[in-house]
Amino acid sequence: MNEKTLNQNDVIAANEKKYVSRAQKIPYYPVAFKKGIGALLYDVEGNEYIDFLSSASSANIGHGNEEIAQVVKEQMVNLAQYTLAYFYANEPVELAKRLVKMAPGDDDKKVLFSTTGSASIDGAIKLARAYTGRSKIISFYESYHGSTFGALSISAISTNMRRKMGPLLPETYHFSYPNCLRCKYGKDKDNCEMECLKEIEYAFDHYLPTEEVAAVFMEPIAGDAGLIVPPEEYVKSLHELCKKNGILFISDEIQQGMGRTGKWFGIEHFGVEPDLIVMGKSVGAGLPLGVVIGKTDIMDSLDSPGHLFSMSGNSTVCAAALKMLEIFEREDLNNRSIEMGEYIKDKFLKLKEKYEIIGDVRGIGMSIAVDLVTDRESMDKNYKAAAKICYRCIQKGLVLIFVGQSALRVQPPIVITRGQVDKAIEIIEESMNEYLNGDIGEEVFETTKGW
Ligand SMILES: Cc1ncc(COP(=O)(O)O)c(C=O)c1O
Repeated sequence: MNEKTLNQNDVIAANEKKYVSRAQKIPYYPVAFKKGIGALLYDVEGNEYIDFLSSASSANIGHGNEEIAQVVKEQMVNLAQYTLAYFYANEPVELAKRLVKMAPGDDDKKVLFSTTGSASIDGAIKLARAYTGRSKIISFYESYHGSTFGALSISAISTNMRRKMGPLLPETYHFSYPNCLRCKYGKDKDNCEMECLKEIEYAFDHYLPTEEVAAVFMEPIAGDAGLIVPPEEYVKSLHELCKKNGILFISDEIQQGMGRTGKWFGIEHFGVEPDLIVMGKSVGAGLPLGVVIGKTDIMDSLDSPGHLFSMSGNSTVCAAALKMLEIFEREDLNNRSIEMGEYIKDKFLKLKEKYEIIGDVRGIGMSIAVDLVTDRESMDKNYKAAAKICYRCIQKGLVLIFVGQSALRVQPPIVITRGQVDKAIEIIEESMNEYLNGDIGEEVFETTKGW
């Protein structure tokens, strides 16, 4: 293991504990990052790390991009921002034009800006209600859509996130995300009758009038639930069910969009065109930006000023986003995400042949889960292994966390090199062996809590 002096890291972590609310953290390990280049990070002590998390998929373009930094500097010197609430600026208009062109389907679309993914989810809830004149919203168990009241209300990932703050938004309904690895109905591919979709149909028949349902919010890959990839047939059938009943299909692309899966939007892998797309994280090129993209008639259904923030779509973040999109195309990063994703998946599949503890390797592009299990027979989630291995990996210089209680979250910056991937996977294998030898103690759980 690297011998590391973590003094400054520990001091910063202790000070954060003293001065900053714990409500904004899911702690893993006391590291304070100071610098990043591509897929490498450096902490305040100068220790180097390979990044397998991309700042929770919000740094797909990689860290420390000089071109983006230059554009941001120029914009800041000219005019950081002037609120769009009352006046106009060209950068957000140009960005809106670009995003409309990127979205699946025709260009008869508009964009609604905010400053975070969560706030844009709230915007999409408002738009869906305004457009349909209906109030009820459907989403999935274990989904995470954000931390504002609306976004949290349609999420269902953590009781701790919902305690002591209610009442949340009424009229939200959760159903089972299609999880074929751990099918709630005990089915496999051969005898599946899409019982999870039938759950929704049953609700429509018995207690949830379709004419009161405004929208279904779906992540094209259920990220924080464990990077679960739904079957294409399910997504298509759900989309059809929505269409048949005048319900909007809304794709939450905050984590899976912006090249994470090798396309601009994760939903493009499933052959459906959503009514609304919600973006956040990487779309801001390192600065805070949230976006809803949708058909013009839906986007025009909210009256002015139905979703307005002083800082949303500000010129600096929009200039950064435009530059990032230019780089993305120039460097063909969507294809790189597919190719590197395959390379990474292959490497993990080889590890799976060696280690029983790896129950499943799945994902699209560079949104990959390595699911750790207690045994392959039961496929029970191995929370302890995931927590301990991630902890040890961070100690050894690899930024890695887990989702869905057991799945290593492999979402590196798209610019990561093969050499960096090879090194990172060596660190994971080493840490896995240390876990299997009983060399990682229970003290991990003093820090690592999970959702
Ligand atoms: C799928 C998904 N939706 C919404 C959000 C919330 O985005 P933000 O943290 O920018 O508000 C997240 C954040 O992790 C996410 O992964």
